[in-house]
Amino acid sequence: MIYGERIRLRGVERDDIPRFVAWFNDPEVTEGLTMYLPMTTWEEEQWFENLSKRPAEERPLAIEARLENGWQHIGSCGFHNIEWTNRAAEVGIAIGDKSVWNQGYGTETMRLLLEHGFETLNLNRIFLRVHESNLNAVRSYEKVGFVHEGRMRQAVYKHGKYEDMFLMSVLRSEWNSPRVGKNNGTSPHP
Ligand SMILES: CC(C)(COP(=O)(O)OP(=O)(O)OC[C@H]1O[C@@H](n2cnc3c(N)ncnc32)[C@H](O)[C@@H]1OP(=O)(O)O)[C@@H](O)C(=O)NCCC(=O)NCCS
Repeated sequence: MIYGERIRLRGVERDDIPRFVAWFNDPEVTEGLTMYLPMTTWEEEQWFENLSKRPAEERPLAIEARLENGWQHIGSCGFHNIEWTNRAAEVGIAIGDKSVWNQGYGTETMRLLLEHGFETLNLNRIFLRVHESNLNAVRSYEKVGFVHEGRMRQAVYKHGKYEDMFLMSVLRSEWNSPRVGKNNGTSPHP
């Protein structure tokens, strides 16, 4: 497991499937995601069965938060499209449990993913794409140091209209390792 302060990341288990089906059938959760069709349990089971064929570094991670009743599964995240020659990867996150939105868990998860990406996977560039209207997502990415590097014009069609997407990235050279922060007393993150 990968431990943060209030969260931890673990591998996805078969037991997680019902929660994924519930979350990814919720239009409020999928509003900022690429999913747009209803999802069935059998589709999610097939997706789960195929995870073992993916490179280990690209398998999704379940996000668990330490809540009143102990560790609770609140979402998932992970890297995909890892290019080892370029040491670049795309990162994604979805907190499916809406009751914990806007409590800093997304920001903390992204910080932990950056640490994992830079200090364990030895990546040099971590990027993401986000809908322009996904304001809390954009805000949380900015807080952990993602830099706006481009606008993908009319990249998404949703609700009968096109929307732009932001391309955002963090380079290892501009990322402040929490380890360095702890050692020299400076702020650990931008
Ligand atoms: C996007 C997501 C990961 C963010 O996680 P979260 O835990 O809710 O976000 P956080 O609490 O860490 O940070 C959100 C920030 O946005 C701010 N925010 C909330 N609503 C906002 C708005 N309308 N405009 C601007 N900022 C807003 C919050 O105040 C907070 O900033 P602050 O801590 O400086 O006050 C989560 O909401 C989610 O998974 N949503 C559904 C799936 C999704 O859209 N995934 C992202 C795809 S790119």
